[in-house]
Amino acid sequence: MKVTIVAGARPNFIKISPIIDALEDISLNVTGITYRLVHTGQHYDKKMSKSFFIELEIPEPHINLNCGGGSQAEQTANIMVKFEKELLENPCDLVIVVGDVNSTMACTIVAKKLGTKVAHVEAGIRSNDMNMPEEINRIVTDSICDYFFTTSLSANKQLIDSGVSADKIFFVGNTMIDTLLKHKHRFIMPDFWNKYNLTKENFIVLTLHRPSNVDEMSKLETLLNEIIKSSRGVKIIFPIHPRTHKVLNKISKNYKNLYVVDPQSYLTFNYLVSNSKCVITDSGGITEETTVLGIPCITLRDNTERPETIDIGTNILVGSNYKLLKDTLNILFNGKWKKGEIPKFWDGNTAKRIIRVIKNI
Ligand code: UD1
Repeated sequence: MKVTIVAGARPNFIKISPIIDALEDISLNVTGITYRLVHTGQHYDKKMSKSFFIELEIPEPHINLNCGGGSQAEQTANIMVKFEKELLENPCDLVIVVGDVNSTMACTIVAKKLGTKVAHVEAGIRSNDMNMPEEINRIVTDSICDYFFTTSLSANKQLIDSGVSADKIFFVGNTMIDTLLKHKHRFIMPDFWNKYNLTKENFIVLTLHRPSNVDEMSKLETLLNEIIKSSRGVKIIFPIHPRTHKVLNKISKNYKNLYVVDPQSYLTFNYLVSNSKCVITDSGGITEETTVLGIPCITLRDNTERPETIDIGTNILVGSNYKLLKDTLNILFNGKWKKGEIPKFWDGNTAKRIIRVIKNI
């Protein structure tokens, strides 16, 4: 069996790493499966891509399609054209896509049109927010792919409700957590740790990259003002996404207590998170990691496709309600944060479950 694994953007690299590990795990007896790793090039900066390959020991991709940048349509179209050529030259029996980025959707469409089966890892999650490009990517991917690997039973339900046959859905857990648990013992202290006088829990980690939060200068400015106003002078470490950086550069203000740093590598970012007082973010994946690490997390979105991080994890959704942000930070400062639990199958063995299923396909 020939498998093509697709990865394009930063969170994808974290999700494919354990799948490749499992494919190379002799105890799983997968000698009949060979794989080809395709990097679409959606993320291309060293700090957004290469550093993840190095730290997570992901093998060099067999090919990089170099499709970074451009508008949503340009990027998607570019990936489709290049991936079609790639798949025609290197046909396979199964394409594995992960997550919800443009590369996920683009490669799924191409594979299906060439008659190749597709497995989607992290299928079935929904924010029901059609303003998110990711939600469109999820819906399109799940409406045409063949095998659905899910992180939660609520994802299974979404798929069943949308007409997917139950025998194509496999509740396996979360590959992002496989990676987290595998590398937890080797997180790396960032080089600015001493320079900024960081100690355990004396700082907050902030990440922002959603177009709805960062693309408009005035929105980003208000958001930063409100976060700083509500955080009682605690240091805020802000590893900045290139998309956000472009807009922040236009804001000339010097924010007190805000420490803007480069995008961090996987091991340094998670060192920061696991030692932080809390994380404030608009990411989805980070809410899963904080849930497993037991770190309080505040999500600056009005919805989430990962309800288990709220229902049983450490996450609280505050959206753009700044009063709620202040109240929620007060809960944190008063030491009253809820104690979360870890969702089922977020146990480090998800990729092995996936490979066992794929072996029998
Ligand atoms: C993408 C995903 C998002 C994911 C995020 C993680 C989609 C629709 N969005 O968003 O789901 O959470 O990745 O980071 O697929 N850029 C660089 N260098 C890079 C990468 C991007 O400068 O290495 C620039 C691009 O040129 C572009 C902007 O950042 O101007 C946004 O990149 P893009 O890949 O379109 O989307 P993200 O915002 O990164």
